[in-house]
Amino acid sequence: WPIFAEDIDAILDLKRHRNAVVLAHNYQTPEIFHCIADIVGDSLALAREATRVEAEVIVLAGVHFMAETAKLLNPDKTVLIPDLAAGCSLAESITPADIRLMRDRYPGVPVVTYVNTSAAVKAESDVCCTSGNVKKVVESLGSPRVILLPDEYLAQNVARETGVEIITWTGHCEVHERFTAAEIRQLRREYPGIVVLAHPECPPEVVAEADFTGSTATMNGFVGQRKPARVVLITECSMSDNVAAQHPEVAFVRPCNLCPHMKRITLPKIRSALEGMRHEVTIVPEVAARARRAVERMLAI
Ligand code: 13P
Ligand code: SF4
Repeated sequence: WPIFAEDIDAILDLKRHRNAVVLAHNYQTPEIFHCIADIVGDSLALAREATRVEAEVIVLAGVHFMAETAKLLNPDKTVLIPDLAAGCSLAESITPADIRLMRDRYPGVPVVTYVNTSAAVKAESDVCCTSGNVKKVVESLGSPRVILLPDEYLAQNVARETGVEIITWTGHCEVHERFTAAEIRQLRREYPGIVVLAHPECPPEVVAEADFTGSTATMNGFVGQRKPARVVLITECSMSDNVAAQHPEVAFVRPCNLCPHMKRITLPKIRSALEGMRHEVTIVPEVAARARRAVERMLAI
């Protein structure tokens, strides 16, 4: 990839010079994912790996809440996000005051927040979850009712798999909410035998049409273990690019939706993040202490 070579070389040099590692989410473009990332994974893996980083600097190639989570879990490190505007429609959908309102409305009901939220929202919750552990976290609470915020579809999808009554919010992922059940049925007509994997942020009627539902890491694992002849990943576009590069024997059909926030992160921005040591992610200590408790409680489950 000659067009990327200069930035890749510069980033590899800068990582050594700054004693930095790049943590990249599965939705990052292939030149980031395959050429400069030290650690790749879903939100849960990135959180786990952030606790183990020994380098002085973490560059989070992903969205802002992921960088905040890394900072919460390894507060002595300098955590950089290459574009501060890399947000998330789910994180935008809820505020700390909303969580307090839900607690007033449902006294005593435990509050689980998806990691796709700000540190200030995490600070108001009892425990966090990701798409990779949501069922386990909800069931671990041993409560007949649980508040699970802010992703309405994720909550509805989990409610179907557990005996727990779930109270939710009206947040949606702007990428996954656009998939439809009709689209999946059309794919099955066009490609008989195709295996359909859907992310649990998709609407329940989409998940109902899929063969398997799981986090981005579990989708990747499914392809690696089962090696379906033809597969479609109902999720963000770069996911198929990254997984297909690892499994050339599997045919990928690629209808997908782009995440504009993930796509703000580019090689030139990662390079200037390391050159200028920006944009540093900081969290008010009082908020950080409470948010860390919710994330660490999740990691212990
Ligand atoms: P996971 O990688 O944890 O499945 O999350 C998907 C996502 O939308 C992150 O922004
Ligand atoms: Fe947020 Fe959806 Fe983008 Fe993930 S894919 S960062 S959930 S908007």
